[in-house]
Amino acid sequence: MHDQHSPDQAGDTGAIDEIDDIDDIKISVVVNGVRYVRRVEPRMLLADFLRHTLCLTGTHVGCEHGVCGACTIIVDGSSARSCLMLAVQADGCELRTVEGLGSMDKLSPLQQAFQDCHALQCGFCTPGMLMTCTDMLEKYPLANDEEIREGLSGNICRCTGYVNIVEAVRRVRDASQEKPQ
Ligand code: FES
Ligand code: FES
Repeated sequence: MHDQHSPDQAGDTGAIDEIDDIDDIKISVVVNGVRYVRRVEPRMLLADFLRHTLCLTGTHVGCEHGVCGACTIIVDGSSARSCLMLAVQADGCELRTVEGLGSMDKLSPLQQAFQDCHALQCGFCTPGMLMTCTDMLEKYPLANDEEIREGLSGNICRCTGYVNIVEAVRRVRDASQEKPQ
């Protein structure tokens, strides 16, 4: 059997031991309204692309296999685990990360509700929670308490702050219903 890393015992017979590196791939993504064009390794995770290539470190990485939800972002309008996507799969997509929700001076209503309700402790899960809840509130603005809990069930908070997180989402839901139409 031929071992691709060992040249044939050919000496000067002309055998070639060649590893043909796969070239980086150029991708174009819009993140929080800004278009980025970058070359990436085909194996690079989308979470790593956001954090290391674009320096958008608000997206956290916990389990790296789709369980904890810390890396949740919004891809083309739906929440997604950025640790389960390759950066190249996001080519042409529109992404939203926690950095796009609000600013230090002007928190989004959901961020403000998290602060007001003490819906975070260490804060590690918070970016993923915020993006999951943002998607949920946009899609299901009338979600009842059970649906809110169901919607959050894919995000793990190791500080077990679920009660206050649900309360924060509930506040935003209720406030949006009180606004004059
Ligand atoms: S880091 Fe992606 S789901 Fe845990
Ligand atoms: S606030 Fe610490 S993991 Fe959720």
